[in-house]
Amino acid sequence: MFSVQNVKLFRSSTFRLAVIYMLLFSLSVLVLLGFIYWSTAGYMLRQTEATIEAEITGLAERYDLSGLPGLSKVISERLSRQKSGNSLYLLTDPQFKPIIGNLRNWPEVKPSEQGWISFAISRPNDEPEQNKGLARMFLLSGDFHLLVGRDVHDLEEIQNLIREALFWGMLITIVLALAGGVMMSRTMMHRIEVINSTCHQIMDGDLAQRIPRTGGDDDFDRLVDILNRMLDQIEELMLGVKQVTNNIAHDLRTPLTRMRRRLDMLRQKENPVERHEELLDQAIGEADGLLTTFKALLRISEVESGGRRGNFKDVDMTALLQDLMELYAPLSEEKGQSFLAEVGSSKPIVGDRDLLFQALANILDNAIKYTPSAGKIQLSMHDQPNQLQIAITDSGPGIPPEAREKVFERFFRLEESRSSPGNGLGLSLVAAIIKLHHGQIVLNDNQPGLKLTISLPRSS
Ligand SMILES: Nc1ncnc2c1ncn2[C@@H]1O[C@H](COP(=O)(O)OP(=O)(O)O)[C@@H](O)[C@H]1O
Ligand SMILES: [Mg+2]
Repeated sequence: MFSVQNVKLFRSSTFRLAVIYMLLFSLSVLVLLGFIYWSTAGYMLRQTEATIEAEITGLAERYDLSGLPGLSKVISERLSRQKSGNSLYLLTDPQFKPIIGNLRNWPEVKPSEQGWISFAISRPNDEPEQNKGLARMFLLSGDFHLLVGRDVHDLEEIQNLIREALFWGMLITIVLALAGGVMMSRTMMHRIEVINSTCHQIMDGDLAQRIPRTGGDDDFDRLVDILNRMLDQIEELMLGVKQVTNNIAHDLRTPLTRMRRRLDMLRQKENPVERHEELLDQAIGEADGLLTTFKALLRISEVESGGRRGNFKDVDMTALLQDLMELYAPLSEEKGQSFLAEVGSSKPIVGDRDLLFQALANILDNAIKYTPSAGKIQLSMHDQPNQLQIAITDSGPGIPPEAREKVFERFFRLEESRSSPGNGLGLSLVAAIIKLHHGQIVLNDNQPGLKLTISLPRSS
């Protein structure tokens, strides 16, 4: 009977919620029914009491006015007027011996504080009565006793009916609420189970799994959509990490192999001693290259982690570009290229000066490196109200459209660039730095050559 499934069901939060809801609902029903009870049965009882009260004052007044005979007359009149009526009267002498009334004897019940008694009715004609009476007693002058009351059988009947309705109403409410709770929890649990099992599959290594939608387009489906989108992003990131790892491994293998070969040659006796120095220098050079690559990789990670945003300050880009020009114009001219700069004044932007310098240096370095001699290199800056635009153009071979995204990946180099020095990390660092500044880089064809445009927003 109590399967694992059932235990799970009762422990589910939806079920608990349903139970709490049921309790609250039952309480409201209880209050509502209680109010109905009070306002019907209670009202009827109070009504009866008021009538008895009024009658007893009337009779007492009559007694004061015209004594025992007058009172007896009124009572007998009233008794004859009602045939099997609900009114109860009894007038007795000081020894409780009945004088007139429709009760056989004075009930032996102690009255309540307010003088009310509730008793089993005993009629004079001996018929056995189960009915209950509600009455009030009154001591008349001369120690005569007067009792005026009502047969409350009908009233009790109605009260019982209402009480019964109340009980069944409660019971039905609880049963229905419980059944509803179980049903609701079942549906919810099934849907959560679907998410769970998909997550298990993903944790087991199947990153391509996605949680199926139920098609209701409800909040559950929206949750599923968000989870699926998150999974898409995780998968993409995982693929990215995998690719970077592969690239790193692949790109470090070549210089390491070269280094190993040089060290191996050093060991071979037939190599002349003069060659040793050269081989050692080459091995050290390879090691330095590797260290540079690692340094660059670490730098990119550092920038990507966003920690450097802490020391953003106002940067005067005009001054920065002038410093760059001073450094790179001679290199470019040395290569026989013409270097043209168009740098006007600009309002400062918020950023990291060293990183921005590094980024622009990497771009200029590429432009000079990949553009043949007699080529043309241009640097320009446009100060706009909400952003600063910097363009670097060259007349070199350019980058084909299909590679314009790839050049920002770590270690990516165009086939024809592999003979020039470099490690394919320059533009990756540029991308990380511009992203850190919430900027954008666009690559275009300069016909011929490459046009690289950077936009840096002012409110970064
Ligand atoms: N101005 C340019 N003209 C032509 N190709 C370029 C230019 N800038 C970058 N590239 C291409 O993009 C690749 C990636 O650039 P980068 O990340 O700086 O690496 P590296 O300069 O070390 O090769 C370069 O290898 C080259 O193929
Ligand atoms: Mg470069």
